[in-house]
Amino acid sequence: MTKVLIATDKPFAPVAVNGIREIVEAQGYELVLLEKYTSQDELIAAVADVDAMIIRSDKATKEVIEAAKNLKVIVRAGAGYDNIDLAACTAHNVVAMNTPGQNSNAVAELAFGMMVYMARNFYNGKSGSELKGKKIGIHAYGNVGQNVGRIARGFGMEVYAFDPFMTDEQIKNAGATPLHSAEEMYKMCQYISLHIPATEQTKKSINYDLLKDMPKGAVLVNTARKEVIDEEGLAKLMEERADFHYITDIAPDCDCFSKFEGRFFATPKKMGAQTEEANVNAGLAAAHQIVNFIEKGDEKFRVNK
Ligand code: 3PG
Repeated sequence: MTKVLIATDKPFAPVAVNGIREIVEAQGYELVLLEKYTSQDELIAAVADVDAMIIRSDKATKEVIEAAKNLKVIVRAGAGYDNIDLAACTAHNVVAMNTPGQNSNAVAELAFGMMVYMARNFYNGKSGSELKGKKIGIHAYGNVGQNVGRIARGFGMEVYAFDPFMTDEQIKNAGATPLHSAEEMYKMCQYISLHIPATEQTKKSINYDLLKDMPKGAVLVNTARKEVIDEEGLAKLMEERADFHYITDIAPDCDCFSKFEGRFFATPKKMGAQTEEANVNAGLAAAHQIVNFIEKGDEKFRVNK
């Protein structure tokens, strides 16, 4: 019997697990659940006899892929697939997929939750500031970035975007003013919202030199990945500039930020995509993609070669 594993250290909402179960069992497949596991060994043991698996930010390393002798397809229920060893998947004939766009509104809404929280001094009652009229620069204007743009327009912000993979026309049609370099955007915008993936090119690319000329009262909003930040450079800048703020959904590795009281905030656990709606959208999409691949060989959303 075809066996599908949901391996989620950070579990989906029960409604999403039930929905995935319905899709999987309607095909006569078996669903296995591994949630809140405490070691990579548990994951390695769980994959031993599965044909397909659904993960979130769980680490699908070479060891995991090699241990999954029957694995044919792995779906990252979400956008970023930097947690999957794609070369190992390809080497073992495993198709890797993501579910682009399915959780993007949830992530965008959290970005604004954090921006308002910071602008209103963590709700401590002291006079804060408003987002209306401020310039926001959206770094990468894909699914999450465009949702950020839509919400920013609702707040009355001036919306700019830099995305080297989109034409000016595409950016304009999606409601933002296109800019042609990150440098130009960071110089102009008091708010910067990051939506770039973590790749060899982007890691540590948000660095001191890029950030140093941001306008007064600068706010860097990170709902993307901690790896894209040059944490030492950012901490150095925050030492030099008492007006610079950093809010992030991914706690930094460096413990050098907690001293910036009132200017730094990190959620306790990455939670941008942690809504029932996003869990249902991404989880069910992943289940459908697995069924479509196993039954019809459909490789739409494949991310490895
Ligand atoms: C994504 O890449 O889809 C987001 O970062 C969400 O990640 P999560 O599923 O671990 O919450």
